[in-house]
Amino acid sequence: MRIDIITILPKLLEGPFADSILKRAQDKGLVEIHVHDLRTYSEDKHKRVDDYAYGGGAGMVMRIEPIYACIEYLQSERNYDEVIFMTPDGELLNQGLCNQLSSLKNLIILCGHYKGVDERVRTHLITREISIGDYVLSGGELGAAVLTDSIVRLLPGVLNDETSALSDSFQDDLLAPPVFTRPEEFKGWTVPPILLSGHEAKIDEWRHEQSVSRTKERRPHLLEPKGKMQQ
Ligand code: ADE
Repeated sequence: MRIDIITILPKLLEGPFADSILKRAQDKGLVEIHVHDLRTYSEDKHKRVDDYAYGGGAGMVMRIEPIYACIEYLQSERNYDEVIFMTPDGELLNQGLCNQLSSLKNLIILCGHYKGVDERVRTHLITREISIGDYVLSGGELGAAVLTDSIVRLLPGVLNDETSALSDSFQDDLLAPPVFTRPEEFKGWTVPPILLSGHEAKIDEWRHEQSVSRTKERRPHLLEPKGKMQQ
């Protein structure tokens, strides 16, 4: 898989991909992540990528020309399955969407800034708009990092134990059950005895019950029949 991220703040995206699972995935050749500085596509002598909004009002708007130039260059090199725009008014990211996107080959992610981007970018260049939650970030970069992480960890071979992505919260619309490790007792706080019993079937049953009760308590909507809210 290949992910190209377009941003005016490339430095913000150095950290999230330089360590741990995402770094290993790149080292193993399972994913290529390329970060593109939008300013290098600006024809403006000051490398500006924003301008005042037509009709007035506070806040600058990202211009279409450098975004078009960058996307056009990338698309001349290969085909992309989706051109995603990170924006708080996009489709809400959930595990189902991560699963869908992880089966694709090439993705472009555009990070928004200022008051937004010229609407013509959204109308003509973007194929999908994604939000990571109903709150507003300073820009799309942290959202792009979240989206990239949540997709890449699902790629075959990225996690050491392939089953561990399958047992993640949300994979079967259930939250994950609680887990414990040594010591068996700490300050009088003990591990549920069933986990020490060695009885595999009973442990599986206990974990499932815990998942269901945790989901009922914390995300009851996941247990409702699939309706308009979920895909
Ligand atoms: N940019 C600003 N806020 C955002 C959000 N919640 N999700 C994705 N991109 C954003």
